[in-house]
Amino acid sequence: MIPQSFIQDLLNRVDIVDVVGRYVQLKKGGANYMGLCPFHNEKSPSFTVSPTKQFYHCFGCGAHGTAIGFLIEYSGLGFVEAVKDLAQNVGMTVPDQDRLPPAQRAEVQAKSLALSDAMTQACDFYRQQLRGAQHAVAYLKGRGLTGEIAARFAMGYAPDGWDSLRQVFPNYDAPQLVEAGLLIEKGDDDGGPRKRYDRFRDRIMFPIRNTKGQVIGFGGRVLDGGEPKYLNSPETPLFQKGSELYGLFEARQAIREAGYALVTEGYMDVVALAQLGFPQAVATLGTACTPTHVQKLLRQTDQVIFSFDGDAAGRRAARRALDACLPHASDNKTLKFLFLPPEHDPDSYVREMGADAFEQQIRDAMPLSQFLLKEVTADTDLKTSEGRAKAQFDAKPMLQAMPPSALRLQIVRSLAQMTQTTPAEIEALFELAQPVARTKIAPPRTKRTPPMGLERQIIRLLVVHPALASELDQAAIDAIISLSPDNSAMLQQLIDTCRALGPQANFAALAQQLKMGNGDFDALIAEVAAEPESEIATSRLELAGAIRQTKMQLLKAEMDALAASGLGTEEARGRYRELFQQQEQLRRQAEVENVTR
Ligand code: UTP
Ligand code: MN
Repeated sequence: MIPQSFIQDLLNRVDIVDVVGRYVQLKKGGANYMGLCPFHNEKSPSFTVSPTKQFYHCFGCGAHGTAIGFLIEYSGLGFVEAVKDLAQNVGMTVPDQDRLPPAQRAEVQAKSLALSDAMTQACDFYRQQLRGAQHAVAYLKGRGLTGEIAARFAMGYAPDGWDSLRQVFPNYDAPQLVEAGLLIEKGDDDGGPRKRYDRFRDRIMFPIRNTKGQVIGFGGRVLDGGEPKYLNSPETPLFQKGSELYGLFEARQAIREAGYALVTEGYMDVVALAQLGFPQAVATLGTACTPTHVQKLLRQTDQVIFSFDGDAAGRRAARRALDACLPHASDNKTLKFLFLPPEHDPDSYVREMGADAFEQQIRDAMPLSQFLLKEVTADTDLKTSEGRAKAQFDAKPMLQAMPPSALRLQIVRSLAQMTQTTPAEIEALFELAQPVARTKIAPPRTKRTPPMGLERQIIRLLVVHPALASELDQAAIDAIISLSPDNSAMLQQLIDTCRALGPQANFAALAQQLKMGNGDFDALIAEVAAEPESEIATSRLELAGAIRQTKMQLLKAEMDALAASGLGTEEARGRYRELFQQQEQLRRQAEVENVTR
């Protein structure tokens, strides 16, 4: 685990123009540098590197990232190796836990022990709370789960209070409770009142365990139709979503017995499948499947079968999983993909169609080679030269991502046949003989309900200049968070992340940090990367304006509600006056600022 502060220092010290310039010929053009994009084939440069943003962006294929991201994508290094490589170039040493002096190492270990201890205690508490929570038990029963299976997965219930965990942790102020992601803390370190409260409230709790069985995170599901449906632990020193799989600890034995691991998309799928005869199921944690996930599974078994929901999101997820599999596809491993009918996920499918039908789906799952060829030929007319060329163009990065193997040769042969070429021609055309850079394959991603209006403006300003988040007071943060109940978790996450980076925060450090999250910000980061720079001073004014408008909106909403209620009580009238005065004050502030601007 490399500390975030180190990543930020590194990104401040390294110059992305030098880093990219080692591999791509760059020419100065205006404020940026331009070159031919190394991630797709092009004749005229659409790849730009911004020295001020310390970010690269390709207008052709959309590839983008920091210096660290570039090294990972370009040379196929892992995150840690990429950081080490860059650090070496600027004379920094990556703090390595194993090489720390014994005293510090003990400190790191003690800290992770404390976090892990807090998680275990919380898990025990949630389990115990489930027993008394009739509506939660009824919910689980209603979904067809037995008490036995709930116990096997250590499922629990987080009560509906703001500080229920106080019962477990009398020292509710202990820093590790926030660090473990169990509590959320709002407020300023410098002076303002700090407010802490339980992250998980009135939710069914799914503890996430690492392969040693230690609880490292939680997913919490709402009992009604509230949003978000699932709330997950944030990334912590114990928990990285991109490398953990839900249910892997519980499934290990079953995976060995079945001879394969079944990868699903949901917590509920894992638990329901385990009950209905498929205990070899695991799930990604609301993130795309990563090469690390695949690698982890292939350490347990030689065969991995991915099951995807039949909806459009499932198909996109399947494509991401295919990309994640390619670097690990080899002759002694079997990787397969199954697609359920559009209205189903594995849970609903087995319940409706029965275990035998699902078993049949598993037997009929599509091997990787077939899925790959289907992907590249799907929307292409192979009867035309253009269509055949397009199929080859799409297949190129995928075949390049595969290690040389008999399997790859088989795919090359099939592709050759389908596109009226010879295998040798394809190998030459795709430069498969020499080792090549891993190519970025970035399928489009869609978002749930994209933030709009004020909310979107605020998010953008914070992403462009994350340092501004450290200047916000609690009232401003509260206003932003209340702006849209749908996206409040996302807003809170963004503000927390920016503030954690501190007043030195910049776009590159934030982008690097958010990349490890759930993908909520990917589209926005791509967008900001493609824009011209903006001055922090201008953004500061814009943000102040947007926050003021937000406060106005909230005040107005409350006043409207009070007025609609008829203002019958003295209390209501008093509150109305109070809100009215606040509104006036904001108006005056706005005037003053407009004059000084
Ligand atoms: P699904 O919406 O398919 O959930 O999301 P599910 O597991 O089938 O749950 P039920 O059956 O509706 O109860 C799949 C996964 O995506 C992540 C979770 O990991 C979930 O299991 N997810 C989904 C989130 O993290 N947050 C959300 O708000 C929704
Ligand atoms: Mn489901």
